[in-house]
Amino acid sequence: MAGTREREIGRNLKAGYRRAAAKPAAMPAPAKNMEECEKTVLRLQGVTKRYTLGETIVDALRGVDLEVKKGDSISIMGPSGSGKSTLLHILGCLDIPSTGKYYLDGIDVSTLSSDALAQVRAKKIGFVFQFFYLIPSLNAVENVMLPMVFDSVGEEERFRRAEKLLNDVGLSHRMYHKPNELSGGERQRVAIARALSQEPAVLLADEPTGNLDSVVGEEIISLFHKLHHDKCITLVTVTHDPGIANYSDKIIYIKDGRVVDISKGKNHAALKERLKTFVPSWEKNKR
Ligand SMILES: Nc1ncnc2c1ncn2[C@@H]1O[C@H](COP(=O)(O)OP(=O)(O)OP(=O)(O)O)[C@@H](O)[C@H]1O
Ligand SMILES: [Mg+2]
Repeated sequence: MAGTREREIGRNLKAGYRRAAAKPAAMPAPAKNMEECEKTVLRLQGVTKRYTLGETIVDALRGVDLEVKKGDSISIMGPSGSGKSTLLHILGCLDIPSTGKYYLDGIDVSTLSSDALAQVRAKKIGFVFQFFYLIPSLNAVENVMLPMVFDSVGEEERFRRAEKLLNDVGLSHRMYHKPNELSGGERQRVAIARALSQEPAVLLADEPTGNLDSVVGEEIISLFHKLHHDKCITLVTVTHDPGIANYSDKIIYIKDGRVVDISKGKNHAALKERLKTFVPSWEKNKR
């Protein structure tokens, strides 16, 4: 079951789609010192996040510096409560730092109004979560079309794009199924197609296989990396699974709100080889 925080994220995402569609804000210009961040898509400088709940203060992030280059695949690992989701939410503009700077594609997001932030999020970021957050009353193709209302493209074009994306994730035969008529892996593939609908520069995933069995989970991760390679999307995945993390270029370890180690993914090269001939079981077993 999704918890309070997860439900809040779901609501924020939906509200963000609505806000971005209803009230287009002027997109901010990239910072002048862009040469410096030319190939850096995500840059955090001394980012902290403090939550205050009555008398209780939680320092979820305590000064994180991070640089992610275009086309990198990164995994974030660390114990429960170490600040992984908080970090991902800041990277995805679902939350803002308490102090420190965050540049997304050269834009200093701390200077943005909430409407502009919703715009940046809708334009540049795709999200995939453990609990999918599909809209139960909409079928697969409608769920994928939803974020595109922002694009001011006609409904026919939206449908065409959603159809293509569902085909990319092997679900062209389930376009008219509602979420409760899909398996867990299929729901996650719809969520991935939706995340890609705006052609985001960055795909952020918070424990995307946490609700799936290990075989389907492994295939979803392979699909992520295939999309990452094919579309040169920057991929940031929070995971507890070292097997999954080892498929990334880089693994960032977080403890007590700080980055304590960065290592290379051990199976990254092997994954690249595997992807050359990767055919997921849903393609083999399509009925
Ligand atoms: N909205 C909030 N208000 C107050 N405290 C919060 C809030 N969100 C997270 N926290 C606290 O911040 C800390 C970091 O939480 P976060 O969700 O980032 O951890 P995590 O590393 O993702 O953990 P997990 O692996 O269990 O998902 C935790 O101590 C958590 O209780
Ligand atoms: Mg978390």
